Amino acid sequence: MGERNLDSATRVVHAGERVHVAPSVTWPIAPPIVQTSVYAYPDIAAVDAVHEGEAPGYIYGGYGVPNQSALEAALAELEGAEAAVVTTSGSNAIAVTLLGLTAAGSRVVAAINCYGGTRVVLDQQLARFGVSTTYVHPADIDAVIAALHSEPRPALLWVDTIANPTIRATDIPCLATLASDAGVPLVVDNTFATPYHAQPLTMGADIVLHSTTKFIGGHNDSRGGAILADSERIAQLRRVAIHFGAIGAPFEAWLQLRGLRTLDVRMERSSANALAIAEACDGHPHVRRVHYPGLPSDPGHSVAVRTLRHGFGSMLSIDLGTAERARAVVDRLQLVVFAETLGGLMTTVVHPRSASYRSLTEEELARIGVSPGLLRFSVGIESPEDLVRDILGALNSLA
Ligand SMILES: Cc1ncc(COP(=O)(O)O)c(C=O)c1O
Repeated sequence: MGERNLDSATRVVHAGERVHVAPSVTWPIAPPIVQTSVYAYPDIAAVDAVHEGEAPGYIYGGYGVPNQSALEAALAELEGAEAAVVTTSGSNAIAVTLLGLTAAGSRVVAAINCYGGTRVVLDQQLARFGVSTTYVHPADIDAVIAALHSEPRPALLWVDTIANPTIRATDIPCLATLASDAGVPLVVDNTFATPYHAQPLTMGADIVLHSTTKFIGGHNDSRGGAILADSERIAQLRRVAIHFGAIGAPFEAWLQLRGLRTLDVRMERSSANALAIAEACDGHPHVRRVHYPGLPSDPGHSVAVRTLRHGFGSMLSIDLGTAERARAVVDRLQLVVFAETLGGLMTTVVHPRSASYRSLTEEELARIGVSPGLLRFSVGIESPEDLVRDILGALNSLA
């Protein structure tokens, strides 16, 4: 450009534009953030070749740029998947998967205790297009079999590896067999377990998805989602994600890959902390019940022992009997942060009845086990002694 007789207004637009493609025998140890929404092409033949998959390359941010590809490759490797597509949020991963697998008149079989946002998409959005949902408790095998084998034949079976907010471990291998016998794909939301604790595809699931906003990102500073499956399914779901503008942004993917690098050490610490809290609260006079799959008394314990590895996860719920007691404990916690999220470095608490479950009927709440006094904790990586002291201090101060 220096050779040409160009005006300053042109130079400020074009100066240095090709520097990043300079050949280098070295590479950056941290991946560069490719913060571009579009790529330039040398000629029409080149862009045709990229579109047809005959040449490597990127075209447009809406289809993904290198930061998304890096996160997709990392997640696919960790989940044992052939391929992945990353989306702007876990909610978008849910919507894309459901839109991709259903059509007008489809019937979905879903776990009654699946993430509340999944139910909202099914009940308030897809229902408008004639998609119906049969809800079953995933531990009620007879109900699952009946739902899978009734007409119209289901488009998919949807469950969460560890269900919200009763932290119930789901028997993925068993459900995978039932789904496969019925010729129905099994979709698993693995957000709570993460690939550190469970790899549902290796247990027979067909599609796995994540809110990477949570443990994978791990720092409460970005949002994202991911869908993982075989290459053919991901190619189809990627098209749906592209059509709905659901592909994530480069900086978000960069942050989540950076978070992923410490997933194992964070999960190891936070699941050990969760077990310490569960054991400290179990049997406390003000605690009606602790929901944690690591406790031998938990109804999901034997499933968890069989299906989860490296411990039992970082989520736990404590039932205090009444909403007033739950409120009093939240007010008295000094260290644990009251915030409607999960999966971050710090321990957070929510009151599910006043958060994502507020629109459910009493009957539905009872079926899922969301009692008025239930508090759900997402345990972080602080010192276990400090966390136990904070929570026991709040419990002990109850009248
Ligand atoms: C299990 C589970 N799946 C999906 C989501 C949705 O993720 P996002 O908040 O990234 O849209 C959430 C959010 O809380 C969740 O808990």
